[in-house]
Amino acid sequence: MIKLGILGVGDLTEKMVRGLQRDAGELDVFMSPRGREKALTLARDCGCRVMPDNQAVVDAADIVLVGVRPAQLPELAKQVTLRHDQTLISVVSGVSVAELQRLFGIDRCGRAMLSYAAEINRSTVAVYPADRGVEALLHPLGNLIVLASDTEFELATVSACMNGWFYFLLHDLQHWLIEKELPSERARALVLSSLEDCLAYARHCDTSPFLDLGRAIATPGTFTEQGLEMLGLHHANAAWGAACEVVFDALLTRSERDFCLDTAEMAL
Ligand SMILES: NC(=O)c1ccc[n+]([C@@H]2O[C@H](COP(=O)([O-])OP(=O)(O)OC[C@H]3O[C@@H](n4cnc5c(N)ncnc54)[C@H](OP(=O)(O)O)[C@@H]3O)[C@@H](O)[C@H]2O)c1
Repeated sequence: MIKLGILGVGDLTEKMVRGLQRDAGELDVFMSPRGREKALTLARDCGCRVMPDNQAVVDAADIVLVGVRPAQLPELAKQVTLRHDQTLISVVSGVSVAELQRLFGIDRCGRAMLSYAAEINRSTVAVYPADRGVEALLHPLGNLIVLASDTEFELATVSACMNGWFYFLLHDLQHWLIEKELPSERARALVLSSLEDCLAYARHCDTSPFLDLGRAIATPGTFTEQGLEMLGLHHANAAWGAACEVVFDALLTRSERDFCLDTAEMAL
């Protein structure tokens, strides 16, 4: 039986707990009391326990999952003392393993990045560093991808943002169809199905570069090529790249800035 403590019962950790309870085997979950409504709902739906305070969560757990927002992390770290035989997994964006180790005072700290699809066990599960226990715990939530450095993990975080952006792309494409008077549910079905086609075929041709797969469809004189040219004229691809760059820069800047701040505070 794995004893999992959750510090920060929020939108993401709630979905992770629901996915884990469905598919992770023997698991006892202990939750911090803040985010009370979510915690009580999870206690009712999944048999998790709401603990009186954060230290009680830590004391009951083998593995501690941290799911607060980045700005809330320093305050949380001051509220708990972890044991050296415990493992901490953080889903907090932009906080490196070294920062986690310093904040929580233990060596076995790791990072994980997931999406809301954790709730249905279909999320990307990016993990750094490699750790058999962490991988075994989170693997039931979806596609496990183990990263090799904090920088690779920040790139996985940019990729997790792409997941959010895709919904807006789906919205725009659906609404173009709706504006042309296609009923909403058929527009939704067509857009989703078209994306599913693309993903399924790309997975089927798993050694082919995406660009080759696209070019094989957008051959000269096709309607696909005609639309692709218009996307190029509007710098659509450059816009996606710019969005990735701005998030990546922010993640790297945040890590460096906080590292310097904390070091300065420790020196005082
Ligand atoms: N949401 C996503 O799609 C997503 C995806 C990937 C990664 N992440 C990362 O996951 C983290 C959580 O995001 P979220 O959207 O799930 O946030 P959220 O919904 O705001 O959840 C954070 C929870 O932590 C609680 N909390 C704050 N300080 C606490 C403390 N000292 N002790 C115990 N609980 C405390 C908050 O309670 P109060 O409401 O009382 O403040 C809230 O219930 C973020 O760091 C984010 O970077 C999120």
